[in-house]
Amino acid sequence: MMIFSIFVFLLFFSSVAETFIARVAKPWLWSDFLFYRTQLGKKFLKSTEIMDNFTRQVIRARKEEAIKQNTITYDEQNSHQDEITFGYGKKRQAFLDLLLDHHLKDNTMTEDDMQEEVDSFMFAE
Ligand SMILES: *[C@@H]1O[C@H](CO)[C@@H](O)[C@H](O)[C@H]1NC(C)=O
Repeated sequence: MMIFSIFVFLLFFSSVAETFIARVAKPWLWSDFLFYRTQLGKKFLKSTEIMDNFTRQVIRARKEEAIKQNTITYDEQNSHQDEITFGYGKKRQAFLDLLLDHHLKDNTMTEDDMQEEVDSFMFAE
C-alpha cells in the first residue's frame, strides 16, 4: 500500500509538472478545449482520474475502519504529538479523521466533500 501510494503520487505529480511546463511554454494549450484534445491533455485527465480513485479508496478504507472500531477519536493534543513524531503522514491521517467525524457523526459532509478537502489539503503544501 505504501509503495503503491508513493507510485500514484509520483505519477500524478510528474504529470501535473509536465502539464504545467508545457502549458506555460505553449500558448495554444492555454485553451482547455484544445488542451484536452491533445495527447498530453488526455494523459493529464487519466492521471487525475487515477489520483481521484486513489483518494476515494483511502477515504473508503479509513471510513470502514472507523465504523468497525466505532470510535473516531480526533484528539487535538494527540494529533499534535503525532505531527511532531511522524510528520506529514500522521497530520494528514488526523485531518482525514476529523473529516470522517463530520461525515459519520453529524452528516455535514459527503464522501465527495471529503475527497475535495483531502485533495486541496495535499496540494496546498
Ligand atoms: C476510476 O473509478 C471509476 C469508478 O469506479 C472507474 O470506472 C474508472 O475506470 C477508474 N479509473 C481508473 C483510471 O482507474
